[in-house]
Amino acid sequence: MKILVIHGPNLNLLGTREPDVYGIFTLADITASLSQVAAELECEITEMQSNSEGTLVDTIQAAKGIFHGILINPAAYTHTSVAIRDALSAVALPTVEVHLSNIHKREEFRRHSYIAPVAVGQISGFGPDSYLLGLRALINYLRQ
Ligand code: DQA
Repeated sequence: MKILVIHGPNLNLLGTREPDVYGIFTLADITASLSQVAAELECEITEMQSNSEGTLVDTIQAAKGIFHGILINPAAYTHTSVAIRDALSAVALPTVEVHLSNIHKREEFRRHSYIAPVAVGQISGFGPDSYLLGLRALINYLRQ
């Protein structure tokens, strides 16, 4: 089982970026935890991070036929990107959307996700555990 893990814009700054909101974990810490869970679940993960919407669209398009599912934190593009939603819709790979913070208890503009309607589900508000829970949920969904 091959899973593509996508981190959207500004997530490369985790650890120093608004630690009161996003915590002190770095992206490398999240990668290390995800690798442990992936080993436990006997799946293979490939991770990428980009600040660019076009690169994220290209990556999603290229996933078809290679990966079985996508775990994505679209970050700010969650709330703005019809292009990322359309790419996910086009490849039709089971996708789980994750967020470190609880987007539903923050500013109004963060409460809407363009991605949620094309995702299997969304996990939001558990810090780095959102990714780990998301990976477990995606693998369980794919193995049903
Ligand atoms: C985020 C929430 C988004 O609203 C924000 O733009 C991010 C991170 C999260 O993981 O909590 O960059 O996706």
